[in-house]
Amino acid sequence: MAYRLTVLGTGYLGATHAACMAELGFEVLGLDVDAAKVASLQAGNLPIHEPGLEDILRRNLANGRLRFTSSYEEAADFGDVHFVCVGTPQKKGEYAADVSYLDAVIESLAPHLRRDCLVVGKSTVPVGTAQRLSDKLARLAPVGEAAELAWNPEFLREGFAVKDTLHPDRIVLGVHSEKPEKIMREVYASMLEHGTPLVITDYPTAELVKVAANAFLATKISFINAMAEVCEAAHADVKQLSLALSYDERIGGRFLNPGLGFGGGCLPKDIRAFMARAGELGADQALTFLREVDAINMRRRARMVDLARELSGGSFRGCTMAVLGAAFKPNSDDIRDSPALDVAVKIAEQGGKVTVYDPVAQENARRAHPELNYGASALEAARGAHVVLLLTEWQEFVDLDPEELGSVVASRKIVDGRNALDAETWRAAGWHYRALGRP
Ligand code: UDX
Repeated sequence: MAYRLTVLGTGYLGATHAACMAELGFEVLGLDVDAAKVASLQAGNLPIHEPGLEDILRRNLANGRLRFTSSYEEAADFGDVHFVCVGTPQKKGEYAADVSYLDAVIESLAPHLRRDCLVVGKSTVPVGTAQRLSDKLARLAPVGEAAELAWNPEFLREGFAVKDTLHPDRIVLGVHSEKPEKIMREVYASMLEHGTPLVITDYPTAELVKVAANAFLATKISFINAMAEVCEAAHADVKQLSLALSYDERIGGRFLNPGLGFGGGCLPKDIRAFMARAGELGADQALTFLREVDAINMRRRARMVDLARELSGGSFRGCTMAVLGAAFKPNSDDIRDSPALDVAVKIAEQGGKVTVYDPVAQENARRAHPELNYGASALEAARGAHVVLLLTEWQEFVDLDPEELGSVVASRKIVDGRNALDAETWRAAGWHYRALGRP
């Protein structure tokens, strides 16, 4: 059967999922309560930067497989499978996740559900949420238990969202009956045919896989950044250490890049929400190490500011700093919990004159931090700078010519916050090169 799909919530995850499922041949209706977002998507304009996604959006709007609405009634009427893709941000002043958008989706959709259907949660949630939403769904839907719930966490990375959605590493499905499994096997048939592993499990395990994966990745990054701290104290080189570790297949080299640490809309808030939930379950001891993971990560930012101050002669007063990068990572315009912007703001607060340049996240940064200065290019941002800070490793920064950059700065001093540059090349061009975790 050709199921008709809805995607409820068209943020990063939802917009990507809606467009990619239409690309696979399904008829898809995307829903968002934000009318401006609906209008923008319906006009073929993506509100986010994601390589390849806008083409897919436009192609599927044009062929009629994809459209957008704000009406839950229309969505309930249209869909056989409803994907829930709303955000679960960190609560203000707390570690816990705010799941109110999820409850709002179920409360808005369920009263209109008058036929058999499947509701599939994709958001990252505290374990236990799926069972609670399943109960709520059965209570509020006129069809009762004929509206079933499945949990299908999403592992996509920003910058690789299309690839990660169409060719996932694995599909995890939490179910409590056979019908959802059968439907989801059909929905994801093209991926399963290509050998994508499928893990069928219960709700809590499915919910936990997602946060456990993010906790592991965050731990791996903080592990190498902790080694960077020790390397600095011991005059060792964490980049070579990381390379040597990576040859051990049990360790592997991915997510072992030392530097300014992790940010973004997922890893930081997900590990905090995970700790909060474990606490509620009486298992807080199991995750106390994540507090350390978080602390190591935040210390990298402080260390970066210290290094920049050291190179400025002990104070930022009267110093001009060029900050290269504002996005939390390259190939993204996302500035949520961006380590780069955090460092830029701290230096400005301490009296430095900071000029930022980011090839894609510049406008988002400017809106969030109008107090900083912005340059139209890396060279513009660096003009007259006493110290250059590379904080997001965009390829165009890695490719910078040390001579050309050297010709515009006030002094040739650079801190490589991502261990992305070749130290020897920069030193040979007369730069005072410093990096986190290296002599
Ligand atoms: C992450 C997970 O990877 C993804 O599976 C999940 O669905 C959402 O959260 P994302 O936030 O897009 O994805 O970014 P990711 O590529 O994981 O990078 C996270 C942060 O870690 C970035 O700030 C990046 O700069 C940093 N990082 C990554 C490092 O500091 N070192 C590394 O070796 C790798």
